[in-house]
Amino acid sequence: MIGRASVESGQKPLLSLRNINMTFGGVKALKNVSFDVLPGEVHCLAGENGSGKSTLIKIITGVYRPQDGAVIEYDGQTYSHMSPVTAQAAGIQVIWQDLALFPEMTVAENIAFQTVLGRWPRIVNYNSMRETAERALARLGVTLDVDRPLKDYPIAQRQIVAIARALIGEAKLVFMDEPTASLTQSETDHLLDIVRTLSASGVAVVFVSHRLAEVLEISSRLTVLRDGALVGVYPTTGMTQSRITELMTGKTFDQTIRARDVSANPIVLEVEGLSRRGQFEDISFTVRRGETLGITGLLGAGRTELALSLFGMLKPRSGTVKLEGKPVHFSSNRDAIAAGIAYLSEDRLSLGLIQPQSIADNLVIASLDRIMAGGLLSDGSKRALVAQWIADLGVKIGQQSDAISTLSGGNQQRIAIAKWLATDPKLLILDAPTVGVDVGARAGIFDIVAKLADSGLAIILISDEVPEVYFNADRVLHMAQGRIINQFTPSDCALQDIEAAVYA
Ligand SMILES: Nc1ncnc2c1ncn2[C@@H]1O[C@H](COP(=O)(O)OP(=O)(O)OP(=O)(O)O)[C@@H](O)[C@H]1O
Ligand SMILES: [Mg+2]
Repeated sequence: MIGRASVESGQKPLLSLRNINMTFGGVKALKNVSFDVLPGEVHCLAGENGSGKSTLIKIITGVYRPQDGAVIEYDGQTYSHMSPVTAQAAGIQVIWQDLALFPEMTVAENIAFQTVLGRWPRIVNYNSMRETAERALARLGVTLDVDRPLKDYPIAQRQIVAIARALIGEAKLVFMDEPTASLTQSETDHLLDIVRTLSASGVAVVFVSHRLAEVLEISSRLTVLRDGALVGVYPTTGMTQSRITELMTGKTFDQTIRARDVSANPIVLEVEGLSRRGQFEDISFTVRRGETLGITGLLGAGRTELALSLFGMLKPRSGTVKLEGKPVHFSSNRDAIAAGIAYLSEDRLSLGLIQPQSIADNLVIASLDRIMAGGLLSDGSKRALVAQWIADLGVKIGQQSDAISTLSGGNQQRIAIAKWLATDPKLLILDAPTVGVDVGARAGIFDIVAKLADSGLAIILISDEVPEVYFNADRVLHMAQGRIINQFTPSDCALQDIEAAVYA
């Protein structure tokens, strides 16, 4: 199956990997994987969380060294492994998830500093750097003020800066590991245009995304990994989301509406006339016991600011919040946690997790006050508690003492959810809980959410993916420009009704 597409198309691959094996501790992250990329193609790497996508990219770009026996053929040369320097010199570039940029430096410096490194005398010619940067941006059809510090620009523009930087080194092959995870729909569309421009100019792009609609839209071929092993290589034409899901997981998932009528349940949260200047205006709603209230709308609609206010992290200017009938005023998130509110942040890069710390410590960090109420937390009881959550949420880990950073994105997400559930909240706010999470794990997370709701928890589910709220919430609020402008009941409307309103 491997290489068939390239044989059929008669094109010689730009990159061809054989016998790639990689083991971390006891975990076989890649098992005898083969992979190839044709010149100028857009090739997607698909697989569930932890299936080995990022590891494969790190091997090609020289971050990790594969086990003996690996063969890497690239542009007419054969290597047993790459180093970051050889990979870059050969025109292989990566846009990392964290972008690896310098926020305090200007756009021009971020894009072009490498071109002046190592030159002598060490007087940086800012004008030439600026020109290089502008040329790289122009290639992407983008204009930015290159003299402004990068921190003035939002994430989508920073990503473009990272791509522009990758291009000045005569890139032939660019890897993008989940580049759209923190972008809005229109930013994503723009990024996909940039990928097409790159491909048309002969640069091959390997693209990783858990949003399968995007995968279908952008790629010409698709390599699927499952548990570190190659499932196959497929032309994208004729593929469907459900077929890819099946290849990735070996299972099929069908979506059904969950929405139930919970109007007889007691009210947990009551928000009235809540406003915060420039962010949200006159917000009123209730959430009942056992209810999942969806909030959707485009990014920037004020959803996250609203959530942060409910969680004590932003002070509303006016309005009231009642929890189980009593008015509450939080001056910090600690107050909110103590009152029974948990908030899973949308921040995909940190998730509120402390990367160098262990899985176990990250899991108990928010609930220490509660579990230590009776005295000290013994190692044994901590281990048992952590083991219970890991089993309940189906998290794949090595040791509890491993750093959280060793887990794949989706497994980190589950730990972040477990961390909040361990606080035994009355109200759980999930802000974009499945960003960067694969289809199988999404289904797993929503199963968990449904069970939590069934056990009486009140849940606010914030997502800009309309199907997510449509299928999993009992009611859906639509926010735009800081206001609630529509309310939908999934059992009484079609998915398209909500999508039409949101994307109007
Ligand atoms: N540095 C590391 N130390 C230990 N284990 C690791 C390390 N890097 C990756 N792993 C393990 O290797 C496996 C593959 O991880 P990888 O990050 O490649 O997955 P992925 O397909 O990119 O997943 P995701 O979609 O969640 O980003 C996982 O089981 C992960 O926990
Ligand atoms: Mg990854």
